[in-house]
Amino acid sequence: MSESVLQAYRTHISSNYADFLERMDLACTVEEARGTIIRDSRGRSFIDFIAGYGVFNFGHNPSDVVRALCAELEAAPLWNRPFLQAPAARLAERLAALTGGALDRVLLCSTGAETVDSAIKLARLSTRRTEIVAAQGGFHGFTLGALSLCGIPIHARPSENRGSRARARAGGDRSRNSARGLSGGGTGDL
Ligand SMILES: Cc1ncc(COP(=O)(O)O)c(C=O)c1O
Repeated sequence: MSESVLQAYRTHISSNYADFLERMDLACTVEEARGTIIRDSRGRSFIDFIAGYGVFNFGHNPSDVVRALCAELEAAPLWNRPFLQAPAARLAERLAALTGGALDRVLLCSTGAETVDSAIKLARLSTRRTEIVAAQGGFHGFTLGALSLCGIPIHARPSENRGSRARARAGGDRSRNSARGLSGGGTGDL
């Protein structure tokens, strides 16, 4: 099973990622994940200290969350824009309330990269500035906006000079002290 999944990854998703997982001895599928424990297709068990970078704050497959998700999918499986989404509205209300009235707008995102792109747009809109400082070695996701802040050259390369207005700036004052200066360079949103 893992072998054919790995082959499909290598052929259709990313040979680099497949190679990376093989090097890490992690080219296996997950057979079961509960709480903090993950069991892979080779029968190995891992304690998950990363928790999906915060996605699994309640552990893997917490029964209350799984039950609520299944109930929602069965009740209203249509997740598209033309209709109001009651769970989204309720979540936004609760998140806004948690800020004690300091913030009243919520942007619900599905991925980290989308969140970073939205933060770039928000920063540019609110400051009217186009320069963003990012840390060397930093990773923010694979969308064009997030890649434009990427401090890992092998990932950052595709975002440079390929239609994006953001680009890495080599040298100059802003590149000192392990922080990199990045230029939005234009007036358009990313
Ligand atoms: C620090 C950091 N930011 C952003 C991302 C991008 O998240 P996503 O893969 O959900 O777009 C990642 C993904 O690993 C990350 O580690």
